[in-house]
Amino acid sequence: MKQSRGQWASSLGFILAASGSAVGLGNIWKFPGKVAAYGGGAFILCYVLIVALVGFPVMLAEISIGRNTQKNVVGAFRRLNRRWTFLGGIGVITLFVILSYYCVVGGWVLKYIQVYLTGADFGTGATPYQDYFVNFISKPVEPLLWGAVFLALCVYVVVRGVSKGIEKVSKFLMPCLFLILLAIVVRSITLPGAGEGLRYLFTVRPGTVNGNTLVGALGQAFFSLSVGMGIMVTYGSYVSKTENLAKSAAFICGIDTMVAILAGIAIVPVVFVTLGADGLGQGGGFAFMALPEVFAQMPGGIVFGCLFFMLLFLAALTSAISVLESCVAFLTEEFHLGRLKAIVLLVIPMAFLSAGYSLSQSAERNLNLPWFDFASGVQMLPMNAVLEKFTDNLMIPLGALGFCLFVGWVWGTKNALSEIEADGSRFRFKRSWSFLIRFLAPAVIVLILYFTLGKGQG
Ligand code: PHE
Repeated sequence: MKQSRGQWASSLGFILAASGSAVGLGNIWKFPGKVAAYGGGAFILCYVLIVALVGFPVMLAEISIGRNTQKNVVGAFRRLNRRWTFLGGIGVITLFVILSYYCVVGGWVLKYIQVYLTGADFGTGATPYQDYFVNFISKPVEPLLWGAVFLALCVYVVVRGVSKGIEKVSKFLMPCLFLILLAIVVRSITLPGAGEGLRYLFTVRPGTVNGNTLVGALGQAFFSLSVGMGIMVTYGSYVSKTENLAKSAAFICGIDTMVAILAGIAIVPVVFVTLGADGLGQGGGFAFMALPEVFAQMPGGIVFGCLFFMLLFLAALTSAISVLESCVAFLTEEFHLGRLKAIVLLVIPMAFLSAGYSLSQSAERNLNLPWFDFASGVQMLPMNAVLEKFTDNLMIPLGALGFCLFVGWVWGTKNALSEIEADGSRFRFKRSWSFLIRFLAPAVIVLILYFTLGKGQG
């Protein structure tokens, strides 16, 4: 018996929805900071190579599993080889964790849109922007409320289903995202002194390509492309048999990489001009602390600040939607629940995890939240760092490795290739793809996992 499943109404719809998943906080929030931290051009070069040689093959593998089985990630593995069902389970757990912190950061973004819409008053003091941000995320209740609004927006879209909800929204939001990004890029590169920032961004300095650059680039690539946890299996399962999978995967990887590099161009030079190279090193809070300072010093800065956080919001929303949809597909198909019921079942436990994440921002800063400080005298682990490292450095690479091994050695590249060519097209890079998915990609992932875990670094 066939369940009635959603399907994308057009190829453009699929490409935009999948790019919407890929283009997210990773591109706009993390990528520019990483480029700056890992020495500019060398990182971009490694990143592009890794996307082409590791990211693209894994994405194509995932999409082909999805279209072949027409199932959620757990169902897909169960159908192809029961013993590998656990890999789908790992994917769902990773997704659940990612969604819980994605919503919190999405909430911060919404808050900043509100701040800019109401005049961008960050107060005064020696370091007003830092203080404002730290103060805000350390509050116990307000960030949770903004996170809840963000999650509610995702739910609103996902309840409506694949083509009427996700596809429709992506077709509208993704072009908006491109336009806003372009406007900011133009502003950034026309600032006096931007040339130096651009040079910093694109110069490959000898000596900056090393193990660290590669580890950084690989972790970033998987996260940014949304591969390794079954989102592309889920989205691929809604693709029709007439679609050219290799072309779609290439487009998605291309769009994602282009947006990341454009975000680098939009952000690195302005920060460079305003704050100097030091301004680039503020890690996760970079977008919320360094950029408001930059916008404050720029003519028309309030408008660009507002546009920037809207950009971040659009990017985050379409990504969070894909994570929620992948979890919902799992629950509706494996447990025969309605979409709304599945969403409710997901959101309740997730709210606790998100709350923990949000509240641990305060614990991390040693603000005393008596009800959250389990062992008195011992500082609580900063849950944000723990969760992010757990997903980015461990679960996602492990998931991606699983996909390579499964497609390369268990299901077989022959089966995958016949799915990839099911629309009657000829995939020109069959042999290279088989080689990459069977040998190169797994080897690179193992090496990097070894390197990351061995050094215990992030
Ligand atoms: N790819 C998204 C980004 O770049 C993040 C993401 C990761 C989305 C994992 C879904 C799953 O931000």
